[in-house]
Amino acid sequence: MDLKNVQASEKMADALVAFHNKYFGDNRKPEHWIWEYKVSYPDLSLFSVMMQNGDIAGTLGMIPIYLRVAGKRTLSAKCENALVTPEHRGSNLYLDLHAAQESNCRRKGFQFQWAYGPQYKSGLRCGFSVHKNAICSLGAVISPARVLADTLKSGKKGVRERMVEITSAMLLWLYGSARRATNARPKNRYVVRTEPLGQRDMDDLYQRLRSRFPDMIHIDLDRNYLKWRIYDHPFIQYKNYFVYRGSQLVAYSFVNAHKEARVYLTDFTYDDIDAGKFLLSRILKDLAAKKIGLLIFVGNRENPLIKETLNLLRKRGFVHIGATNFHIRNIQFKFDETISKLENWYMTGTASEGYEV
Ligand SMILES: CC(C)(COP(=O)(O)OP(=O)(O)OC[C@H]1O[C@@H](n2cnc3c(N)ncnc32)[C@H](O)[C@@H]1OP(=O)(O)O)[C@@H](O)C(=O)NCCC(=O)NCCS
Repeated sequence: MDLKNVQASEKMADALVAFHNKYFGDNRKPEHWIWEYKVSYPDLSLFSVMMQNGDIAGTLGMIPIYLRVAGKRTLSAKCENALVTPEHRGSNLYLDLHAAQESNCRRKGFQFQWAYGPQYKSGLRCGFSVHKNAICSLGAVISPARVLADTLKSGKKGVRERMVEITSAMLLWLYGSARRATNARPKNRYVVRTEPLGQRDMDDLYQRLRSRFPDMIHIDLDRNYLKWRIYDHPFIQYKNYFVYRGSQLVAYSFVNAHKEARVYLTDFTYDDIDAGKFLLSRILKDLAAKKIGLLIFVGNRENPLIKETLNLLRKRGFVHIGATNFHIRNIQFKFDETISKLENWYMTGTASEGYEV
């Protein structure tokens, strides 16, 4: 077998995206790949491609993401686009893709790797700790009419599957509406803004959260990250909410309403439960006016803060709709114990939605 490992360049974006679209059934464009790997810290990102006689046999990408680990800014690699052609699965090709990145990872200063994704055994084989179903999704049906219209339109599904989907959506909507109706409206002592008042407000909010959970691990939502991933995202428009009590930022949310059939509470963070309730009511009120199918929140269910959020959402009629695994692998980080503890990871949709279009 004539296999050769190469680092991808922008010139390969067309071929790489075609390779992924073929296996994942997506409709991504080369611009999406370029945005993901070549816009934020382009010199740090890694993308390993295994070529066989001029064809792509496998890929593995690593996106540089600065996290705060117990407050300290730390460079991590988020693994993405793991794909091997079916004929090479079960061989060592995937291991080789990982091994090919190892020295680059160290040289570039990545401390550890992490990923969301369904694979299990292949993750273990590559040295990851794999936490089964740690990343869970809760959803609520906002407009059953929307789900009905989308399901009827879907040519891919059979009659039986459509009937099950429509019935589930109706039940979910009835259940959710009843729960939402019994919730008292929170007091209106907050002001909602579309931008933070001050540049340090997000930092201050996370500092307060870290004073409650000192070993917390979260994405460093600095200007660079927010500009790339949220504010100036070229393919997804977010509606942003910043909730203030006086001059203090007490909650925020990024809502990805790019596709009305599935809307994401990409991030939903608060350091005061009343502010969280207020913000959720506000978002639900705004969305009720639109024809939204499912409203979804994704997060690590072992993290205590996210547990609180999941409880809040359940009280408003959200139910479990799915889960995927969380993968962690240390490369050269001194505080292995901190990153090994799943409960430390405050991970929400901000880490998962990069290229959903
Ligand atoms: C993930 C992948 C690169 C791993 O390749 P690999 O190391 O050669 O591993 P294999 O495909 O032989 O899979 C090893 C085991 O993991 C399981 N597995 C692999 N991908 C899986 C997935 N997406 N979901 C659930 N299980 C998966 C396989 O069933 C297999 O189990 P087995 O050993 O009991 O048969 C390859 O399976 C692949 O390309 N999958 C499709 C794309 C994908 O799911 N990527 C991850 C999300 S980005």
